[in-house]
Amino acid sequence: MRHPICYVSFLALLTYSTTSIAKSHPSKNHRFIPEFALQFAPLSHLWSQEKWFPSDVATHLVHVVPEVNFTAVSSSVTFKNIKHFGSDVFLTSQDPVEDQPSWMHSFENKPNDIGFTKAPATIICVEKGDDIIDAFYFHFYSFDEGNTAQGLEFSDHIGDWEHIMVRFVNESPSVIYLSAHSGGFAFNYSALNMTKGRATTFIAGGTHANYADPGSHLHGPMNLLNDRTDNGPIWDVTLNFRGYWFDNATQTFSVGRGVNVGGKEEIDDGTGWLEFKGMWGDQQYPVPEHGQFCVMDNCHFTDGPTGPIAKNLGRVEVCEHEANCTILMSV
Ligand SMILES: *[C@@H]1O[C@H](CO)[C@@H](O)[C@H](O)[C@H]1NC(C)=O
Ligand SMILES: *[C@@H]1O[C@H](CO)[C@@H](O)[C@H](O)[C@H]1NC(C)=O
Ligand SMILES: *[C@@H]1O[C@H](CO)[C@@H](O)[C@H](O)[C@H]1NC(C)=O
Ligand SMILES: *[C@@H]1O[C@H](CO)[C@@H](O)[C@H](O)[C@H]1NC(C)=O
Ligand SMILES: *[C@@H]1O[C@H](CO)[C@@H](O)[C@H](O)[C@H]1NC(C)=O
Repeated sequence: MRHPICYVSFLALLTYSTTSIAKSHPSKNHRFIPEFALQFAPLSHLWSQEKWFPSDVATHLVHVVPEVNFTAVSSSVTFKNIKHFGSDVFLTSQDPVEDQPSWMHSFENKPNDIGFTKAPATIICVEKGDDIIDAFYFHFYSFDEGNTAQGLEFSDHIGDWEHIMVRFVNESPSVIYLSAHSGGFAFNYSALNMTKGRATTFIAGGTHANYADPGSHLHGPMNLLNDRTDNGPIWDVTLNFRGYWFDNATQTFSVGRGVNVGGKEEIDDGTGWLEFKGMWGDQQYPVPEHGQFCVMDNCHFTDGPTGPIAKNLGRVEVCEHEANCTILMSV
């Protein structure tokens, strides 16, 4: 009679311990970013003369205050309280933009020889059904310097969110989307040049728009603006990132475990910061504040950008703007 009792209590113990493990570490909240999303993550060349390097979101938050219509609505913003601010909030620099403080340049985050930067990237994976997983590689910079036309510089703004998205079908990379200004380009993944089996991409100086090739890229009104890319320092986002999953059905984020600084910080950061629907930089200044000028609605300074949640993470087509999404077969 002793055996069955022991067996039952052993089972009870087993059940109890597995339940308590499941409770303290819900698998949903600690799912790893899949290995293939790192294996096929893009390797991106910054421009060789870049002056506005990748920035850590955590550093940015220290230097901004939440404002609505140029009026502070709180004295500070943190990973914890940011989700309580509305979509009309502009995270506004405490330093006048014309001072160009070092946190806006983030010079110390220039990637080293192996592509490591101290500024964690943000990688967000989204399941799309039918064995499709979209991996979003978000780049954040504290400042975006626009291009010049006729000696005038347009579209500078504080805060800059850009992204590359790779769509995986059955764990294989199929399409890569590169964000650039209000639109972007989608390519068959195998159309891009590969570095160590990973798609090679190019980040334009100042604007940080993403391209598939080095050179000159005309854009903007009447193609007057010129983005430049070249074989500058490589940024390997897999060496330092905060990792998350996004559930499109519930529009919620969960921690997906990151690497290096991002991996350490994200445990305490939580996921609330990704829910912030407001802007990551100053509101567009009226003329002539901070040297603002406008030529036919094109201004020197524009509004700061929205964050990852506003970048159509639930997209069905691969492009951020799904209408007219063409997948190019060559660069
Ligand atoms: C913003 O502030 C200005 C100046 O205080 C005021 O005239 C304007 O009505 C405000 N706008 C909104 C949308 O609150
Ligand atoms: C990408 O190109 C490969 C090789 O040409 C082809 O087999 C595949 O169907 C293409 N994928 C898409 C999504 O266009
Ligand atoms: C791809 O690599 C080849 C060989 O190195 C080079 O000739 C070509 O210009 C590259 N294309 C792009 C888009 O970088
Ligand atoms: C994500 O959610 C949106 C809004 O409910 C929906 O329109 C879209 O089709 C969803 N995406 C996918 C891939 O199911
Ligand atoms: C669709 O994209 C192509 C190529 O970028 C462009 O020439 C065309 O005007 C676009 N069509 C619409 C309706 O936006």
